[in-house]
Amino acid sequence: MNLIGQPMDRIDGLLKVTGEARYAAEFPEARLAHAVLVTSTIASGTITSIDASRAQALPGVLLVMTHQNAPRLPNGGKPALAPPAVRRLSLLQDNQVQYNNEPVAVVVADTLEHAADAARQLRITYQSSTAVLDFAQAKPNGHAPDKPQGRTTDTQRGSFEDGMRSGAVHIDAVYTTPIEHHNPMEPHATMARWDGPQLTLYDSTQGVSNAAQAVAKTFGMPVSDVRVISPFIGGGFGCKGSSWSHVSLCAMAAKQTGRPVRLVLERPQMFGPVGARPHTEQHFTLAARHDGTLTAMRHDSTSNTSVFEDWTETCCMVTRMLYAVPNQITTHRIVPMNLGTPTFMRAPGETTGSFALESAMDELAVALKMDPLALRLKNYAEADPQENKPWSSKSLRECYQIGAEKFGWSRRTGAPRSMRDGNTLIGMGMATATYPANRSEAAAIARILPDGSAMVASGTQDLGTGTYTVMTQVAADALGFAPENIHFALGDSSLPKAPGSGGSQSAASVSPAVREAANAARSQLIALALADVASPVHGIALDDITVENGWVVSRSQPAKRDPAAAIIARSGGKPIEATATVKPGDERQKYSLHSFGAVFAEVHVDADLGTIRVARVVGVYDVGRVLNQKTARSQLMGGIVWGVGAALQEETSLDTRYGRFVNANLAEYHVPVNADIGSLDITFIDRPDPYVNSLGVRGIGEIGITGVPAAIANAVYHATGVRVRDLPVTLDKVMGTMRA
Ligand code: MOS
Repeated sequence: MNLIGQPMDRIDGLLKVTGEARYAAEFPEARLAHAVLVTSTIASGTITSIDASRAQALPGVLLVMTHQNAPRLPNGGKPALAPPAVRRLSLLQDNQVQYNNEPVAVVVADTLEHAADAARQLRITYQSSTAVLDFAQAKPNGHAPDKPQGRTTDTQRGSFEDGMRSGAVHIDAVYTTPIEHHNPMEPHATMARWDGPQLTLYDSTQGVSNAAQAVAKTFGMPVSDVRVISPFIGGGFGCKGSSWSHVSLCAMAAKQTGRPVRLVLERPQMFGPVGARPHTEQHFTLAARHDGTLTAMRHDSTSNTSVFEDWTETCCMVTRMLYAVPNQITTHRIVPMNLGTPTFMRAPGETTGSFALESAMDELAVALKMDPLALRLKNYAEADPQENKPWSSKSLRECYQIGAEKFGWSRRTGAPRSMRDGNTLIGMGMATATYPANRSEAAAIARILPDGSAMVASGTQDLGTGTYTVMTQVAADALGFAPENIHFALGDSSLPKAPGSGGSQSAASVSPAVREAANAARSQLIALALADVASPVHGIALDDITVENGWVVSRSQPAKRDPAAAIIARSGGKPIEATATVKPGDERQKYSLHSFGAVFAEVHVDADLGTIRVARVVGVYDVGRVLNQKTARSQLMGGIVWGVGAALQEETSLDTRYGRFVNANLAEYHVPVNADIGSLDITFIDRPDPYVNSLGVRGIGEIGITGVPAAIANAVYHATGVRVRDLPVTLDKVMGTMRA
């Protein structure tokens, strides 16, 4: 495996920096019409009237689609598919309003400007009803979700009460995290075109096949009549893992107008109808002996959902598996509110849950007067304590050790406010990172072409993460071709089916399929050459044969070699083609598969102003084999940056009177910029997981954010002596209680 792991440059990099990469809203189309989404201005109630006369009379207006004239959909537009492919959508089937900023109309015109102008002229009146918008008030009405994301809602092991009694030191604390919005640079965008019964969607999506399925079900049409194309995506982070209302609305508008229609969400519309991370409130109880041995742990997590769909932030997943605590209770509850349904966002559950768990562990270390790292090592789980299964592989101890050395953890003095540089309070904190090693069935095709190059494809996606690049490496490595002679295609539901790019599963799912398809094509190429009397390698033993740089060659007599193009030309000129479908085996029955990491953060807090800077983060990760050191490092950097955002900046503020988010824009929804990020030092253990798949590759999309908020909050405590249990950690929360 010579190419695997190489820090190859992103093969789509040039296309992106030169503007050649075409995103969903950039595909040209003859007779293209432009749609603007109109959304509700109340949080709960009914639409009593819509006056579209002025809008319809404006120049260029082709359609004003409302619940009064939208095509009726089978099953009320609520398809019965399993999540995550399908959500409860707002497809103008009735006059109900269930959250503010919910789609209530679509205006289509010949230009975007005409459509936007007409959308503003739409007169909608409502009858409001009481909306549920205050989490604290609504919390008593929460309920237990049914199998959230297929997981167990509540767990219990051992006896929590016994464990509490045998503990000498106890922690009892509530941690909260705010509603957050994904805010990819590229907003959701769809272009829909009908050719008779066939629908083509150019859509910014994390799952082309899932999107095709969802839309087909919504319209009651065969999935073979829907094609979804998504070659480039300007960030997803989970919000593009579901097909939301605008996708089907765009297709409906195209049908009604008889023209291709483009619909791009405006930035404020990214705060409502396309998911969010819900608010979480997490109650933690810990008990430990004086030596740090955990005896009991309880984690009760409550998060908001919408009034029309259950969606759960599964905060307790990390708590169940990370430490060897014998007595444990975990519970999930959800509180319906008049908000858009929340969804997967950047390690959903793991980010929020690890903030609570790893903050509570830090509080326990303080109470025990124990080093936080030593406390983690004391409770190191040698096997999955919930599933009672061995790990497929786990190098977390090494992560802790290397991380501590690189960070200089031994220089940390224990007491809060004990490290200082002039007026700067210095804090060092750490936390554990972890994310499950997900994987699904995936298929790929490899075709060696008459010109000696190869086309390899799978219906996966590249969210900007590097799928094009790493799959080119996997294909080139397996075929024995130079990467520049491989064309890797993705982002099209007509290609062999691959799972949605969520749950950090694309590399782990797709790379074994690409490898198997490429291996099969390579074997066919070799067989053709060996059987051909005209080939210089004819008659050479198979075990003496390899493929190098596109040539079939004898290992022992390298002068005997035959290029792929010549082999194909002599055998009739037809491409060599192989497909493969690879799915998980029984490894999940035998092993618990997770990635791990250790995160160390240093913060600098101004002693007078309470301003917080993250001076440096050291992260060491056990993620199985690394396919590309460069793109992998970039992904982990991105994850850590999002962790800094979650720790210090990101928060969507809800106006509890009206159910609107007050900072629904990129000026006031703060995410880190370069100036917010100090040095990031990332190390991979790079040890293949022997069970996850044929390459030993686990996903890396989401582990980077996990642990970071807690490591930073713990560092802020160490710097200031102020424990902030409510994200984001902002200067007001620090200043409120900071001693002089
Ligand atoms: Mo990721 S939040 O599973 O797209």
